[in-house]
Parts: sequence; structure tokens; C-alpha cells
Amino acid sequence: SRRALLGAGAAFGALAVLSPTRTGQARAPAPFVPTKTLTLKSGDAELKLLGPDKPATRILAYDGTPFQTLRLPRGTRLQATYVNGLDEGSSLHFHGIRMPNEYDGVPPLTQPLVEPGGRFVHLLPLDDPGTFFFHPHCDETGQAGRGLVGVLIVEDERDPKFDADEILCLKDWRLAENGGFLPLTEPDGASKAGTFGATRTVNGKPTVELSAAPGADVRLRVLNVDATRIMDIGVEGAEAWLIAVDGHALKPVRLDDLPDGIWRMGPAQRIDLHVRMPADGKRVSVGDYRAADIYHFATLVPSGKPKRKPRRGPLALPAAELPFPDLEAAEFHSFTLQQATDEAVKNLGLPPDDPLAKALVASFCVGAATYWSIGQTSWAAGDRLGLPPPLAAMKEGRSYRIEIKNETRFPHPIHLHGHAFAVLGSSKGRLPRHFADTVLVQPGEAVEIGFVAVSGDWVFHCHILEHMETGMMGWFRVV
Ligand code: C2O
Ligand code: CU
Repeated sequence: SRRALLGAGAAFGALAVLSPTRTGQARAPAPFVPTKTLTLKSGDAELKLLGPDKPATRILAYDGTPFQTLRLPRGTRLQATYVNGLDEGSSLHFHGIRMPNEYDGVPPLTQPLVEPGGRFVHLLPLDDPGTFFFHPHCDETGQAGRGLVGVLIVEDERDPKFDADEILCLKDWRLAENGGFLPLTEPDGASKAGTFGATRTVNGKPTVELSAAPGADVRLRVLNVDATRIMDIGVEGAEAWLIAVDGHALKPVRLDDLPDGIWRMGPAQRIDLHVRMPADGKRVSVGDYRAADIYHFATLVPSGKPKRKPRRGPLALPAAELPFPDLEAAEFHSFTLQQATDEAVKNLGLPPDDPLAKALVASFCVGAATYWSIGQTSWAAGDRLGLPPPLAAMKEGRSYRIEIKNETRFPHPIHLHGHAFAVLGSSKGRLPRHFADTVLVQPGEAVEIGFVAVSGDWVFHCHILEHMETGMMGWFRVV
């Protein structure tokens, strides 16, 4: 019963979450009552990445399972205990989940580093359905680069009925011939487009084959969890619609109606596609069309009896229930993505002997050198021991419009923690309005996003992991 659950919550040491009302007054704290409790332990796993007859690679994974996947219903109150089984410090970040700041997993800003053998308990309200993922927020190039990534699907019982629902998790690997890792970062990559892996995989395999009946409605959840690569996702041989971006539903868009028939997606971005298997029993191919060498990563093979009554048009997901910013009243900020300037490098708010600055350095949440900046500020790296001042001081519950201008020669997928923002427009006019947690900003482009600020210290960074670790990360303080 409800009362029994509330009692259990108290026994867990209930968490108080303060949320403001329209008038700005704090509501009574609501207790967090877990409905699902689990543990995620980082450690080694093995994967045959070079081929069946070649040496295996020792990768990193949660619970020994490459791309460990959680499927939980919308409304779950998740108590997830992260156990660090690595021999270096780490943390766990649930990418794209809107949650109280203290569970965001960003040392030293929101929590201390989780030392080897240590643990940290995250209390997460999974209210937004969709396709999410989780990863460490420390030495990400090294840890996520070696495979430490998991998938979180928040299921919505109101979704239309698909005949299949498949995850396609894309990641490249930098491998030597003996199956070991090549250096995961090189200055030439970190200071330019990133250091690419040459071994491409989907769900840890070279390609996948899925079978579906002619006329069937297949939902594909495509995740780019690579550290570096930008991909142009397209479908050949079937009608297909984009039905969600970063987990959040949008009005279905036919892939054929998008420029070049593809959706361009940087690291950390996800899409849900609805593919209708053709009635004529032909195969369907899903690929990354960006590289000169097209990577056909998934084939949908027709099998079984054709569907009796194939449907027409797209199957739309229930509309995303997310706060939309008040664009009239919104406060405007503009931040430029640049190569690091001397000024950006100097712009550290905390002296090196400040405890927070020291924690930052001790946490190895710093890269080797500084190549990039965001809003004339570079995150700590190299021997610059300190934390930059926040890019903006914001007010909880207030609306913001943020312009992100890319003055570099490379695309950058920019991610804001703790919020789902509205992508309002692009100077190149290439983006439909949609909700997202990460947006790709092309060279020479300005993209505008808007959101209602949630209290906490939230990082705002490029998700090309080498870029974030060499300067392209800042943070907002929302009070
Ligand atoms: Cu995927 Cu700062 O996160
Ligand atoms: Cu970048």
C-alpha cells in the first residue's frame, strides 16, 4: 500500500527534494521512495573485437557485461549504487536524466571522486521515457574509451505497439594487433577532430542482423556512444521516421524529408527510428553514411509471414512532457566555442590551493593539455590547477535562451547536464525544433537552445571526450 511504501522510504533515509512552485516558494520536500534497487560495478570484461580468430580485448564494462542494459518503466524511483571496481578513481553519470544535482556524478563539482573499491548511491526519478545511457565522468577518454558505457531504456506503457524494439549501440575501438588498446588520445587528435578508432562496432559486434516480418513496425534505438566520431544515420530499403531525439519524442519526421535523408549525430546523441519493413520481402540496411566507406551496421532481414494488416504512416510516441521555456521572458546568453586563447587559459576562478581546485586535480578529471574553450573559459587541464568560474549564474525556475556559436573548424556535440533543452533553431536552418540533451554545432554555425533552469551546478561541455578534457567544458550555477 501507499502507506507501507512511504514507511519504506523513511527507512531508506528519505531524500528531500525541494521544488519551487509557480510563486517561487519551496514546496514541502517529497520523500524519495525507491521502487527499484540495483548495483552497477565497473570492472573488466572481454570482447572479441578483432575477429573470432584474433586475440580478445580486455575492455571495461558494468557488471562484466559489455554495454550493460537496464530497461525500467517510466515512473521508476531508481536507487543505483555505483561500485568502483577499477584501479583508478571514477564516478557514474546518467546522461540525459533529469535529477537532483547531487546524483549527477560529476566530481568534484557534485560529489567526491569514487575511489577504487568505493561506492556512491544515486537516487534517480525516471520520469522521462526514452533512450538514455550512463558512463563515468572522470578520465572519460580512458574509461568510456575502453568501453565503460551502459544503456538505460525508460519504457513508456503508453507507447504504440511496435513488433520489435532493438538497441543499436555504436562505438569504435582503437586496437593494436594483439587486441590491446592503442593510445586513446593523441595531441593531434585532441586538438583537432579527435582521435578515431578504426574498429567499428554495433553492440560490440562488427554488424548485426535482425529479423522481422514483411510489413512489421520496428523501433530502432540508435546510440552513438563513441568518444569521437560523428555519424550520419540513414536507412535504405524501407520507409523510416525519426520519432525521438535523445529519448524525447518529436512529431515523426520522415528520414527522406531530412537534408540528405540522414540524421547527423555526434557522440552521446541518440535517436529512435520507426522502420516499416517493406511488404515485398526486401532487406533493409541501416548505416552511417558520413565516412567515404559507408558503415552498414545493421540489416533487417525479412522473415516469417507478412504482417496481416500492415499499418500506414508513422507510429508517433506520446508527446514529451517537458518544461518549455518562456521565450519572451527568457534571459539570453551567448557562448562561443573556440580554440583556447591565453585569456581563457588564465580564467580560473579558484586558486590552485583551494580545496575544490585540489579535489579537481586529484580526481584526474583533468586532461593533459588545454586546446579548447567555451565562453572564453577553459576547464582545468595540464598544470593549470583550478576550477573556472561558472559561465553563468542562473535562477531556478527562470527561462534561458543560450546561443552556442562554433568558431572552430570542427563540429562539437554540446551537452548540458540535468536538463532537457529545446533546440530552438540553427543559423543554418537545418534542425527541426525538438527536445534534446546534446546538440551538434557545426563549424561556423550558431545553435540556440532554451530551457527552464533547475537548481544545481551543471556542467556544459563538448561530448567529444578529448575536447571536454582539454578545455571545452564549463558550468552553470543555478540557485
Ligand atoms: Cu554524457 Cu557530461 O556527459
Ligand atoms: Cu568538441
